[in-house]
Formats: sequence, structure tokens, C-alpha cells
Amino acid sequence: MNAALDLKEEILALKKQRNAVILAHNYQTGDIQDVADHVGDSLGLAYLAKATEADVIAFCGVHFMAETAKIVNPGKIVILPDMDAGCSLEQSCPADQLEAFLTANAEKNYYVIAYINCSGGVKALCDVICTSGNAVKIVNHAPPDRPILFVPDENLGAWVMEQTGRKMDLWKGNCYVHVEFTRDSIRKIKLEYPDALVVAHPECTQAVRLLADEVCSTEKMVTYCKNAPVRDIIVVTESGMLHRLRKECPDKNLIAGPTDRCACADCRYMKMNTLQKLRDALVTLQPRVEMEESIRKRAEIPLLRMLDQSI
Ligand code: 13P
Ligand code: SF4
Repeated sequence: MNAALDLKEEILALKKQRNAVILAHNYQTGDIQDVADHVGDSLGLAYLAKATEADVIAFCGVHFMAETAKIVNPGKIVILPDMDAGCSLEQSCPADQLEAFLTANAEKNYYVIAYINCSGGVKALCDVICTSGNAVKIVNHAPPDRPILFVPDENLGAWVMEQTGRKMDLWKGNCYVHVEFTRDSIRKIKLEYPDALVVAHPECTQAVRLLADEVCSTEKMVTYCKNAPVRDIIVVTESGMLHRLRKECPDKNLIAGPTDRCACADCRYMKMNTLQKLRDALVTLQPRVEMEESIRKRAEIPLLRMLDQSI
């Protein structure tokens, strides 16, 4: 038996022993996706984390995703293979800066919508959470008489404004991976594959979104690619997505969207998790996601508001 197979067997045995569930985001490496119980987008994984009866949640994704699982499961052990797996969007909106902004603009009485890619501290300050999979619906359900502040992704926010016609004030944050795709890099690959359709994540800039046939969350990309009436599809998002798509759409030619510098785009945070680290985390039940209870309780309110809306 080779080493990777040994490791996989070990992980599966530990999972049983710990009564653990392994949740993996679509951007994880292929070997992690293949060992996971569920692979999905942030929205799907948040629902699965809430529903699980396992004692331990091994979250293979980035910190805000594992923290979301902890917010709805305070009594469970939530482990993240690498605690340094952060997110540039989360970093772009520190809770103390948002709090200071809201205090300085108290007269506006903002309805605050936070993209799930943020810290528990930011979630605790907002009215409702959204993901890329439900942002349009969440904004459409926002009180019509209150100005909206959308944090922390200015690109997702701009896309939602285009979709809903609702004006919002946008926090100036972005995903360092998705802003690497440019109009030039996508135009070039389209010239190479003239019959291809283009699907892009809404964290891309408007210049890139305008070249796409469809803009959607990572989970919706799976349905889009399955149903696309063509063979060639250019996928403009993080490279891990290609593994899931190639497995689920074997009849399609799935082409990674390039940046100006590389043939595809990797999120360095997502790629910090490895099979070895997952195995070690299941052995030691460390590193664990922990939260101050007062913040967790406040963050749970807008998160459940999103999950309970079933939208
Ligand atoms: P999804 O919610 O579409 O999975 O996206 C999460 C993310 O981090 C995108 O960069
Ligand atoms: Fe954050 Fe971007 Fe990585 Fe997604 S791809 S986790 S938004 S840095």
C-alpha cells in the first residue's frame, strides 16, 4: 500500500473512532476532497455543520468557515487542520474598525449585511449574514427603508447591486485571489477556446464578470457546468474547484481561468491544509476553533437569520 493510501485509511479509521465528520470546501486539494464526507460551498457547509450529529467537526477550509461551524455548534469540537488558514477578505475588515465606522455613522442606522467571509467579531456586529450563494436573495429581503452597509467584499457587493438594483454602501475589501483575474487574461483564454462558456465567481472584478456567461457561487458552478450545452467551459475561480467539477462533469473540458501571471489561481490559505495535518488534527483534536461565548452568541443571531430564511 502506498503512503497516501495509508494516510487515507488512517484518517477514515480515526474519523470513525472520534465520531467525526469531515467537511471540505470546494477549494481544498483533491486528496482532501476525496476523503471528506461532504464537499461544498460556504452555504452548503454551514447547513451541514448545523445539521450534523457528529461529536467532532473536522473542517477543511479556512478559519471563518470553521468558526461558522463553531458558532452553530458551541458544544462540539471543531478542528481546522491549519489554524493559519485565514482569508484576505476577513483580514480586510477588522471588527474594531467596523465598530468604529458604525459608531461614527450611527445617524445612518445602517442595516449591516456581512458576507460570511469575515470574523466572528464582525458577524456579531451585523444584522444578517449572506454567502455568494444567497446574497441576492438576502439583499432583496432587507428592510426597504434602511440604508445597507455591505461588508467586506466590494466586488461581491457591486455584483449584488447590479442584480438587485438596490444601492448599498460597500466596505473596501476584496479577495486577493479573485482580483488576480483580469480582462486581458480572460480575453486571451477565450480566444484559445472560442466556443467555450465562461463561469466566474462574484468575487471577481466587474471587468471580468462582464466577460462571463454566468456569475455564481462555487456550488452553483457544478449545476451550471453539468447543464451547459457545450463541452469547453472556462472556470474563473480558485483552482481547487476544478477537481470537484472534473469528477462531477466527466464529459466536459473544464479549463482553469488564468491570471496575468499563472495558468490558474491558488488560494494560499486554502492550500495550507494537507492530508497529514488533517490526520494529526484527528489524532490530537487540535488545533481547535474556540470563541468567546459573548461574541459567539451575538454572531449566531445574524447567522441563524440567514440559515432560517432557507433562501
Ligand atoms: P463560495 O461560498 O462560493 O464557496 O465561496 C467561498 C470563497 O471563499 C470564495 O473565495
Ligand atoms: Fe478568502 Fe479569497 Fe481564499 Fe476565498 S479564495 S478563502 S475569499 S482569500
